[in-house]
Amino acid sequence: MKTPALVLVIGATGALGRPAVSLLRERGVAVRALSRHPAQAADLAALGAEAVPGDLTDPASLQRACQGATRVLACAHGLMGRGRWTSEAVDDAGHRALLVAARDAGVERFVYTSALGAHDGHPVDFFRTKATIERAVRASGMPSAILRPSAFMEHHVHNFNGKGLLEKGRAQLIGPGTKRRNFVAASDVAHFAVRALLDEPLPFTSLDIGGHEHLSGLDIARLYAQAAGVEARVSHMPAAVARALSVLARPLHPGMARVMRLLSLPDDAFDEGFDGAAALEARFGLRLKRVPEFVREQVALAGRPPAH
Ligand SMILES: NC(=O)c1ccc[n+]([C@@H]2O[C@H](COP(=O)([O-])OP(=O)(O)OC[C@H]3O[C@@H](n4cnc5c(N)ncnc54)[C@H](OP(=O)(O)O)[C@@H]3O)[C@@H](O)[C@H]2O)c1
Repeated sequence: MKTPALVLVIGATGALGRPAVSLLRERGVAVRALSRHPAQAADLAALGAEAVPGDLTDPASLQRACQGATRVLACAHGLMGRGRWTSEAVDDAGHRALLVAARDAGVERFVYTSALGAHDGHPVDFFRTKATIERAVRASGMPSAILRPSAFMEHHVHNFNGKGLLEKGRAQLIGPGTKRRNFVAASDVAHFAVRALLDEPLPFTSLDIGGHEHLSGLDIARLYAQAAGVEARVSHMPAAVARALSVLARPLHPGMARVMRLLSLPDDAFDEGFDGAAALEARFGLRLKRVPEFVREQVALAGRPPAH
């Protein structure tokens, strides 16, 4: 493994960015961590990363951040954005500006985080944008790798479901909570990001990434309840209400509108399945976190004694 001179991480403060920076620093790699609010990257600076201010909607800041960088990990997004940080500005125009800045600075490898199932015909614009930027990455001329992970446990299992049950005694789900989806820990995805950044030769140009289980929102609430020894109390916002809120929210908060619409779609609107976890483990020699294990960890972190 040739150690790259400097890896620039865009989205360093996110669920994927933090463990990726941490793994890179453990391997002694110099890291520049970009954030709109570098004070939020103080923990990354404590690991020896250089925290720099920057914004995907500010091309000059991207040019500055790319100076001297030899590799880039792009793991930021504006799914929930509004105002100057709409998904169009961040996920589309911002990433195109980043590609130009990286190429002009002589970056020799670009790793882009897309999403499992992103394609041009996807019913949600965010996933169509991911597919468009995948093409722009390939057309940039830089050697590149594209990560296509399923839903992150840190957000979709914990923040948007189990956390509510642990902290408020009730999980709040949109729709019936019956869609079975694949989940992967962002901390596991970070290992694939690091392999894409550091392995010689480039280990893959595009990789679908997911975990072992397919679970519904109701399944997850039950897992938390079981692990914490509490009742699985769940509230449901009807899908029709979420759809109406999505229309009302669009002018003020397009990111919230997008998420409301996404969650109000019928279970069969798009597939969130993945059946390659065992093959990934065998190919890359790692063990992917299981959802029940992740849930037990979150329950312990919340200071609850494990239920027996
Ligand atoms: N979450 C999932 O379930 C999931 C699933 C599949 C793929 N992905 C993809 O994986 C990547 C990482 O997602 P995540 O869940 O780890 O992200 P996250 O936790 O939601 O964090 C978002 C990150 O994006 C950065 N960011 C947002 N707007 C920005 C802007 N205008 N300029 C620069 N940075 C900006 C934020 O940095 P600051 O706030 O510090 O500026 C933050 O570090 C994204 O590309 C995402 O689309 C995520």
